[in-house]
Amino acid sequence: MMKDNTLGIILAGGTGSRLYPLSSIGSKHFLPIYDKPMIFYPISVLMLAGIKDFVIVTQKENILIYKKILKNFKKCGITIKFKIQDKALGIAHGLKIGSSGTKKNIALILGDNIFFGHGFNLILKKLMEFNSDGQIIVNSVKSPENYGVLVCNKKGIPKKIIEKPKKYIGSDAVVGLYFYKNSTLKYLNSIKPSKRNELEITDFNNILLQKKLVSYERLGRGFAWLDTGSPTRLLEASNFVEILEKRQGFKVACLEEIALSQGFITRKQFNKVVGEMPNSEYKNYLKNLTIN
Ligand code: G1P
Repeated sequence: MMKDNTLGIILAGGTGSRLYPLSSIGSKHFLPIYDKPMIFYPISVLMLAGIKDFVIVTQKENILIYKKILKNFKKCGITIKFKIQDKALGIAHGLKIGSSGTKKNIALILGDNIFFGHGFNLILKKLMEFNSDGQIIVNSVKSPENYGVLVCNKKGIPKKIIEKPKKYIGSDAVVGLYFYKNSTLKYLNSIKPSKRNELEITDFNNILLQKKLVSYERLGRGFAWLDTGSPTRLLEASNFVEILEKRQGFKVACLEEIALSQGFITRKQFNKVVGEMPNSEYKNYLKNLTIN
């Protein structure tokens, strides 16, 4: 029941300036990560959590292209709506736009974050129980100065998040996947634009932390959390996915496959979607799938 009560919000606005001139084509989330558009990867995470109802927050001019890229997924048991964020005013601003008017709980993911690790579905399942009002996830990184970093007390109780700390305070970066009960969203109105003129998700999380409303999960050493904001990181993510797919023979973030394995669609509906695809390696992979 809880699952249907959760709205998945994917933030796909932003200018992608660090990817210029690649980003001139529009949303950077159209760009390939190996064999699929980047946007498939965050959608796959939320589908694995059991979410079927999505809002993509992006610039107006991107919507038509998104509809083209994602056209199959209407037939995959999920609904995708679009909301417009024309200026890069921050993650919390995107959350405000994406969640306006909903009574559902929220799973928020940044459109350029990629997650891969054994047992991730179990972590997602736990998060979807919403045992805390706010739930964040941390992963150890080598360059914490580029992220929001979680600080805990000696007992491991989360205290606060420092955004892009200049001095080393720890290496637990807060990843771009957050879970919020609907009742927390009112606190979005209490935050003010930061120095970079954004509504910071860290400021929102810190309000919830002060109120002791937040718990966190840790993604362990064997887990890959990648973000794809620069040309090098984009290439690294592609190489990572290619290596996994070639070695194991399974696709990462294959949304039709996830829809079938999650029971969002029947085998018959799946076969119809696959039948309509152009001949490709992707289609062959799906035709030969042996789930169900
Ligand atoms: C944002 C958040 C930061 C978080 C990171 C995850 O950083 O502000 O707290 O750790 O996403 O990717 P930004 O992309 O705005 O630099």
